[in-house]
Amino acid sequence: MPHLGVNIDHVATLRQARRGVEPDPVWAAVEAELGGAACITLHLREDRRHIQDRDLEILRRTVQVKLNLEMAVTDGMLQIACRVRPEQATLVPEGRQEITTEGGLPVAGQEAKVADAVRRLKAAGITVSLFIDPRPEEVEASARVGADAVEFHTGEYANARDGPERDRQFARIAEAARQARGLGLVVHAGHGLNYVNVVRIAQIPGMTELNIGHSVVSRAVFVGLRRAVREMVRLIESP
Ligand code: PXP
Repeated sequence: MPHLGVNIDHVATLRQARRGVEPDPVWAAVEAELGGAACITLHLREDRRHIQDRDLEILRRTVQVKLNLEMAVTDGMLQIACRVRPEQATLVPEGRQEITTEGGLPVAGQEAKVADAVRRLKAAGITVSLFIDPRPEEVEASARVGADAVEFHTGEYANARDGPERDRQFARIAEAARQARGLGLVVHAGHGLNYVNVVRIAQIPGMTELNIGHSVVSRAVFVGLRRAVREMVRLIESP
């Protein structure tokens, strides 16, 4: 049975809409831990569009479970990761124009660069996961560069129509997971997973970690909105 990593970037996105102090992703991490998350995941993007350096610094000191830093393969990010030392780093591709991480890291096309990053992170005592598409050549390359784990990008599965196309995308992930385990890699998955499509992915043999953000934060709005309104009404009507 996999454990849940909660991605708190989406809380920071809401905060940055006003460039203010709320909602604070640090509080979100505490709530996620109390809810049973085994891992807190955050992506410090180069453009700092959601998570800020201050968030990472505080979370490093406050998170009690595994801290998973998603990061681009750049010298600047490697320096930050090696200084802050999250338990795990997940290497992701980063496009400035993208709304979210649109595809996996092309490990096969840049093995020397990724291998060097993996080496530096591991030397700092950090477990390294590579966010890749569920393709055989990417799994093989991930094993060659010395990664501890791979996180399969489930976006195409999540976006596929329910039916044969989704089944085909599921089969790709299940087969890639089997291949990765055979090569000694720990298997994670994430992106676009929600309360409807997660179950099958969670049941893949050897699946260890699922990183989920958008659907959890979206649901939190609705399971919490009524109470938040009630509290405001109470303040207004009986000040
Ligand atoms: N895993 C990785 C590597 C990601 O980049 C993201 C999105 O930031 C997620 C998981 C979570 O995706 P979602 O927000 O769609 O659940």
